[in-house]
This record gives sequence, structure tokens and C-alpha cells, in this order.
Amino acid sequence: MMHATVSALFLGALMAVSLSASAVDVTISCGAVGQERELCEQATNTWAKETGHRVTITTPPQKTNERYFKYLIDLGNGDSRTDIYQIDVIWPGLLARHFVDLKQYISQEDIQQHYPAMVTNDTVDGRLVGMPWFTDLGVLYYRKDLLEKYALPVPRDWSELADVALYIQTQERKAGQTELWGYVFQGAAYEGLTCNALEWIAAYGGGTVVDADGAITIDNPQAVMAVARAASWIGTTAPPRVLSFNEEDARQTFQLGNAVFMRNWPYAWALLNAKDSPVAGKVEVAPLPQGGIKGISASTLGGWQLAVSKYSKNPAVAADLVRYLTGEAVQKQRALTGSYAPTIMRLYDDPEILATHPFFAKLRPILENAVLRPVVQTGDNYMAVTTHFWDAVHNVLQGQGTAADHLNALRDQLRLVKFRGGW
Ligand code: GLC
Repeated sequence: MMHATVSALFLGALMAVSLSASAVDVTISCGAVGQERELCEQATNTWAKETGHRVTITTPPQKTNERYFKYLIDLGNGDSRTDIYQIDVIWPGLLARHFVDLKQYISQEDIQQHYPAMVTNDTVDGRLVGMPWFTDLGVLYYRKDLLEKYALPVPRDWSELADVALYIQTQERKAGQTELWGYVFQGAAYEGLTCNALEWIAAYGGGTVVDADGAITIDNPQAVMAVARAASWIGTTAPPRVLSFNEEDARQTFQLGNAVFMRNWPYAWALLNAKDSPVAGKVEVAPLPQGGIKGISASTLGGWQLAVSKYSKNPAVAADLVRYLTGEAVQKQRALTGSYAPTIMRLYDDPEILATHPFFAKLRPILENAVLRPVVQTGDNYMAVTTHFWDAVHNVLQGQGTAADHLNALRDQLRLVKFRGGW
């Protein structure tokens, strides 16, 4: 007995020594929208306990485009302090040269369980520069209690949405809900507005700003109509402050019970239905409205990947953390706790996830038809393209000029970018 205890102690000490000898510090830059930070902490702590390594989490700016420039500067300087970057679905091509090929570290079997379109998106010149972590798609959140109260349908097209939103807003305000607005979305001048505006325009058959062959298509009547229609919401069904809203601003307004409809990503679902949420149990999700009866319902594809920096001092250990975080157990936990949409497709059929968040059943078909931002076609010029696009749309929403004039001027700006950047 004594002998057994002594040898167990000895073995334990030996393991601790060997662990600490090889234990390294890994730094990950995790997003902090919704429950991201908390979930990142939980999962990295578990991995750290299992492996003996230490993890530090840093928090980048919340708006994706601001985050991009921060990362670009750090990576451009060959900064080795951050080992793992959480990268947007639109960045693999832009930042590929700074990341290692994860195929060296992660098995084909692990990679193949992810949504193939995501794996393709994260593969640049044959190198897997990011492992898919979660996916995003634009959906319509609505207050089912209010639609039921007025016996109104879930809007199928954008003009129906404006009508229903205005009707409920008017009636509820008369009844004393003076803070209530019809519709909130991401209207600040940033990437989130690009995602929203692309949905309006694509829904009306107005294209994706630049088409698959690289032609600039934004100056067309359907796009003009879609943007002009959105501008008519400001101050009528959407609060003027929506022009400075990001994801969390929209979510907070809706969660306080101050909006009938909201466009947002899946993460909002878990927070809206949390115990302390004033709208818990009163919310439902639908595909975004179509552009007219003949239009389509368009949802922009978003999502995040984990990439290991080429400048990391411990790429193999960092890649192991990436493998763990993007694996099934963590994706499932994130889906259950935070309603982050998995990239491992079999999780969309997972009984526990479907029982906890039945809305996941609606996501898969939306995901499979999601609209892509014109990233591949425009290559290194994407940031310029999207910045000009959201600026033009933001100006129209602000009432500074017509949609026709702004989209026409945008076409000229994009021609210049194309001419100089040569996509
Ligand atoms: C979400 C999406 C991302 C998009 C961003 C815009 O984080 O996942 O792809 O660029 O929103 O705000």
C-alpha cells in the first residue's frame, strides 16, 4: 500500500516536471461579441488543464474592419506575441501569407467534418490558413407575441416588413410603448452595413456589387431601388440612431423590447432567450424577407476561423489548441450555450442542440443558400471595395443624396480601384 502511494506520488511528480518542462504560453485573440469572450475562456481553460500549457486571451476591437487593420499591423510587423488569430470569413485571402498551413498539424479527418464551402474559403493556394470555428448568416428576429396580438403575418418581403413594422409601432406607441421602433439592423458605416445592404440588394436581384467574373454591377435599377427603400425606413420604422448601430447595439435595443423586428446573426438567439432577458420566449426567427414577390431571401454568409501565425514561437502547440477549439465538443458547447452556428455539419442534426435551440433546424437551408461578399473576385482590393460600398449606402441612409447618384458615383470609385488594383 505504502509502496503504491509512493510510486504514484513519484509518477505524479515526474509528470508535472515533464509537463512544466514542455509547457508553453499560447496567446489567442478571441472576439468579444455576445458571449464570445466567456466561451473562449471556458474552452481554453479546459485545454490548458488537459495539456499543461498556459493560455492568454486578448480582445481585439469589436467591429470586424477595425480588427482587420489591427491584425494587419501586428502581422505586418512580424509580431510573435499573438499565436492564434480569430479571422473573419472575408480575410483568408487577405492575410494568408501570415499564417501557417494547418494541414501540417490537423488531420484530414478532422478537417473534412467541416462545411466544405468553409474549408474551400479557408484554403488559399492549397494552404489551409484557417480552421472554421463558427458560421454566421443574417436572419430576421421578430416578436411573435406582437405579431400574434395584431394577427399579422411574418413578413415575406421587404415592403411587407415595413408595413407590418409601421403598423405595430404606431399601435403600440398609442398604447404607451413610446420607445418602440419597427426595425433595427446594423446601420453604422462598417462591414456590418455591407452585410445588410448586400442582403437588400441581392434580394431584389441587384447582384453582389461585383459579379463572379469581376465586373462592377452595383449601378443597376434593382440595387438603387433596394437602397432607396432602406433609406425610407430611417426615422419612420427604424430609429435614426440605427445609423450608428453594430450587432450588439441592435441586439440590445431589441432585447429591451424596443423593436418589433431585427436583423442579426445567430448568436443573438441565446442572449434574447436568457433567463434575465425581457423578451425571452417572445422571439422567433425567420429567413430575411424577399425582394418583392419575385425576389429571393438573401442572407450574407459570415463566420470566423482560427489561424496560427507564421511568427508564433510554438505553432504546433497553437495548432493543437485550434484543433481543440474547432472540434466537435467545443462547437457543440458553443451552440448550446451561445447559439453560435457550428461549421461541423452533423451538429445541425444533433438532438440535444435541436432540443435546446429548435431554431437551428431553420439555419441549415439558409446557410446552404447564403450570399457571398465579393471577396474572391476583388482579392486584395476587398477592403477598398467594401469601404466605398458601405460609405455610399450610409450616405443614402443619412439622407445625403439619392441612391441613384451614390451608386453611380460608387461605380466610378470602384472602377478606379479596379484600374489601380487590377483585379
Ligand atoms: C459577423 C460575421 C462577419 C461579418 C461581421 C460584420 O461577425 O461573422 O463575417 O464580417 O459580422 O459585422
